[in-house]
Amino acid sequence: MVISHRPFFLAGIATVLTLGCVWGAINLFTIGMNESFSAVSYSWVLAHGHAMVFGFVGFFIMGFAYQAIPRFKQTTLRRPRLAFSSLPLMVAGLVLQTIAHLLSPPSLSLEVVASVIQLTAVIIFAVVMVQTMRQAGKRELYDRFVYAGLAWFLTAAIANPVIFKLFELPGSREQLLFNLATFNIPYRDVQLLGLAVVMILGISLRFLPHAYGLREPSKRWTSFLFWGVNGSIAGGVVFFIAGMTSGNHWLLTLQWLTAVVLLVIAIATPLQYGLFKAANTTDRGLKFIRAAHIWFIIATAMLVFTPIYNFGIYMPLTGSRVPFSHAFFGAYRHALTVGFIMMMIVGVSSKVVPTLSGLDVRRAYSLWPTFVLLNLGNLTRVSFQIATDFSPAAYPVMGISGFIEVVGLALWGHELFLNMRPGWSKWTRSLQHTNDCQTITTPSLKC
Ligand code: HEM
Repeated sequence: MVISHRPFFLAGIATVLTLGCVWGAINLFTIGMNESFSAVSYSWVLAHGHAMVFGFVGFFIMGFAYQAIPRFKQTTLRRPRLAFSSLPLMVAGLVLQTIAHLLSPPSLSLEVVASVIQLTAVIIFAVVMVQTMRQAGKRELYDRFVYAGLAWFLTAAIANPVIFKLFELPGSREQLLFNLATFNIPYRDVQLLGLAVVMILGISLRFLPHAYGLREPSKRWTSFLFWGVNGSIAGGVVFFIAGMTSGNHWLLTLQWLTAVVLLVIAIATPLQYGLFKAANTTDRGLKFIRAAHIWFIIATAMLVFTPIYNFGIYMPLTGSRVPFSHAFFGAYRHALTVGFIMMMIVGVSSKVVPTLSGLDVRRAYSLWPTFVLLNLGNLTRVSFQIATDFSPAAYPVMGISGFIEVVGLALWGHELFLNMRPGWSKWTRSLQHTNDCQTITTPSLKC
């Protein structure tokens, strides 16, 4: 049986255009029109965040890894039928978890069922990938990033029902505020930095130089990248939870230092690839990958700037007695998620999908409208979300920015779908003709 990236990518696009960005845009519009971040139920925000991480990011990472890693390693995917079962399991788990969030009161028993199903999907993905990489017997620099990304994915899947209990059924408002203040940032760091950023940085080491003729990063840098990013995430999580529960500000200072390491990584990574030097390709994905790395620098710079903003700007200018701006942190989060994570997924998929369908990427539609709308929408969202701290007039502008992004993403999703169709019929034919053997039926991807 041949496993294809297509059903996974389609599930990812479907997530974006339903529970993910479309719902996010509706939430943002509601917040904008009501000039308040409490205008939408927090359960809705949680359902959106979860769908984007396990659904959008999860489906694209699984689909890409099942397809590309066996090719990179010139081997076959272990247990393809088992691997494929992770797709329906993840879909079912996501739907059930969304219902669990939306029931009133939220249902812990349904959440337990949903999270066990999702954990099973993640375990299957991890086992298949580890076995496939081991059987290849070909050790490469990016391998440990994949292993680390899988470990973060498992950690997030195990923590998922615990977080549901802490955020959805805390017992009292006071307890909810404590739970959010203590566990929201570490949990999202495990998901967004651990799963998404570690996987993207690791796969980029293998993909970017081959696909775009970029420079290979040095071994020393790769080693620093691996320990720097994973150490920052792990240290950040531990120092933050310990600092918040003990009230020890030195621990929070150590956590802040981990953000400085991430900023150094964000600045140095594109330099290592020579990403902004003239490239001998007009590939449509390259502009997304360049923009993504600029957003990565913006996001990590915002993370480093967070305490300065909270204490030096937000508190004195707004008179708030709480040193935390929800608006600024939400803006940082979407600089990272839409700016870096989503932009990388759009860029890489717009090269990989037509190539695997046997189409000539040079003749494919340039995706400039998607590029402009996604960047414009995110820039508007990030800047005006911060501005809501100082002027209510910023709310409506922020409120419409989500729809700008959604139009850009719908154009990308439609184009990707059209590019998948030629390869899809080949793939379904190959399913009929092969029985449990891994045959490569698509043209070789130059990566
Ligand atoms: C069109 C794009 C998007 C829109 C319009 C959107 C909208 C929103 C809104 C309105 C919120 C709540 C307010 C806030 O915290 O700022 C939110 C929170 C969140 N979003 Fe998005 N979002 C988008 C893309 C993404 C992407 C790509 C991801 C992840 C890959 C993501 C993950 C999250 C997370 C984790 C939260 C926070 C949940 C929490 O507070 O725990 N979003 N989003």
